[in-house]
Amino acid sequence: MLSSKMLALLSVLLLSSHVLPLVQSTSCDDKTEYLYDQTCCKKCKPGEYVLENCKYQSATQCATCGNGFFTNDYNSYFNWCPDCRTCTKDHMTYKKNCTTTSNAVCTCVEGYRCTDSDCQACEKIQTATVPSAITTTIPPTHDIMWISVSLCCACVCVCVLLTCFLLISRNARQYGWIMPASPDKSNSGSSQCTEEEEVPMPVQEMCGKTEKLEDV
Ligand SMILES: *[C@@H]1O[C@H](CO)[C@@H](O)[C@H](O)[C@H]1NC(C)=O
Repeated sequence: MLSSKMLALLSVLLLSSHVLPLVQSTSCDDKTEYLYDQTCCKKCKPGEYVLENCKYQSATQCATCGNGFFTNDYNSYFNWCPDCRTCTKDHMTYKKNCTTTSNAVCTCVEGYRCTDSDCQACEKIQTATVPSAITTTIPPTHDIMWISVSLCCACVCVCVLLTCFLLISRNARQYGWIMPASPDKSNSGSSQCTEEEEVPMPVQEMCGKTEKLEDV
């Protein structure tokens, strides 16, 4: 009998020690009340602020936020309201004007977009034609480069060919491929022509002609 009484007492003590502080801490409704001077005061509703904290047998006194200020929830702001947001940055405008119960919402003017979800800044919208213009302007520069390179190569080739041709023609003149008539006239032509069997066709023909002329 004694042991059961003791257990009951102990359980009551344990319960009270755990439950009593919980009851005290949850005595104020966090949504609509706040603890002031060990009393639960009523919070002020959105659009208002606390002018006077509640006292014994007198409720909280609230006042409406002034122009340019707002409260968007039940609050215990004492003698102040938060500032409304201003949308005065470059290319920025109001999506929603500020009211006593809601903050202003910013957006960007046409042709601009917000840089983040909070619209802290506006940036110019890059139109679809701009990137395509960039991509189309790059290939022509490559084309021009390749065209100029190939032109240079062509010029160099032409120069090389010209110099080769000049050198060949000079050498040909020295060996008498082009002007065979002058040595033929000075010497007895028939013997020379027969000796040089490696001489190309035109010279042989010329030699033949001179021989015929001499014979006639
Ligand atoms: C905000 O208020 C101004 C006048 O103060 C008005 O011209 C404008 O249209 C309003 N903007 C919005 C988004 O309600």
